[in-house]
Amino acid sequence: MTTHIEELLTFTQETAVNAGHLVREKYYQPLEIRQKGFRDIVTDADIAAQKLITDTIQSSYPTHGFLTEEKDSKLPTDGDVIWVIDPIDGTTNYSRLQPLFCVSIAAQIAGKSVVGAIYDPMRNELFSAAKGLGSHLNGNAIQVSAVNSLEKTIVALDWSRHKGLRTSTLDILACFAHQVQVVRAIGSAALAMAWIAAGRFDVYLNFNLRPWDVAAADILINEAGGMLSDLYGDPLSWARKGMSGVSSNGRIHQSFLDTFQDVL
Ligand code: IPD
Ligand code: CA
Ligand code: CA
Repeated sequence: MTTHIEELLTFTQETAVNAGHLVREKYYQPLEIRQKGFRDIVTDADIAAQKLITDTIQSSYPTHGFLTEEKDSKLPTDGDVIWVIDPIDGTTNYSRLQPLFCVSIAAQIAGKSVVGAIYDPMRNELFSAAKGLGSHLNGNAIQVSAVNSLEKTIVALDWSRHKGLRTSTLDILACFAHQVQVVRAIGSAALAMAWIAAGRFDVYLNFNLRPWDVAAADILINEAGGMLSDLYGDPLSWARKGMSGVSSNGRIHQSFLDTFQDVL
């Protein structure tokens, strides 16, 4: 089993880096941008990166299945291993030349991420993890932060596309904003959570996480000693349509949740 996981890890790392190089090459080129939903865009780079990733996986693992952000009806959805892919997490940043985005790839077995890689092509930072093998950044082991008091906590969050969820974010923000060190919004859920695993942020909050935003980050954070939950502290239940999630270094998790339980 370990050999299998190690092989999957190396494969996932290489594939994420290759897709990241494609995305970086297209960064300064004119993009084809299409509106695919409310406040939601997709570019030709998202499509090309996803195709590179899925073609690579299919040529090495023809029996595996897929859950991808960009729709592709040719991809099988079933298999012993399911690949959960966000070809560019942070497309709005990418399309406006804001250099905060990443490629996120996870391999799941029986609904659990066993391998994950998040690659930031602008900084050449590869965050990766595998079940039982720890989390690494460019080959060096990483750990969540040691911060355990709210006044020292750096919180990251993202603004949902939807009006009601933005209002909920404002309600919760009003509860903790005055108690923490600072609040950031970098516009890439997967990268923000990779930064939790690396100890750069202490908490990350998002009201509309999709499976491809969180699948790789899930194993990265767990293997780095942190945790993910819903807004009440219960395990995140996997929902394709969107989940409210809090991830953290674990130490500050309950104190952070306690700040807003009254307004839920
Ligand atoms: C989005 C980004 C954004 C977060 C959204 C995600 P996309 O992913 O991660 O930061 O707020 O919830 O959907 O559309 O750029 O892949
Ligand atoms: Ca995306
Ligand atoms: Ca995403």
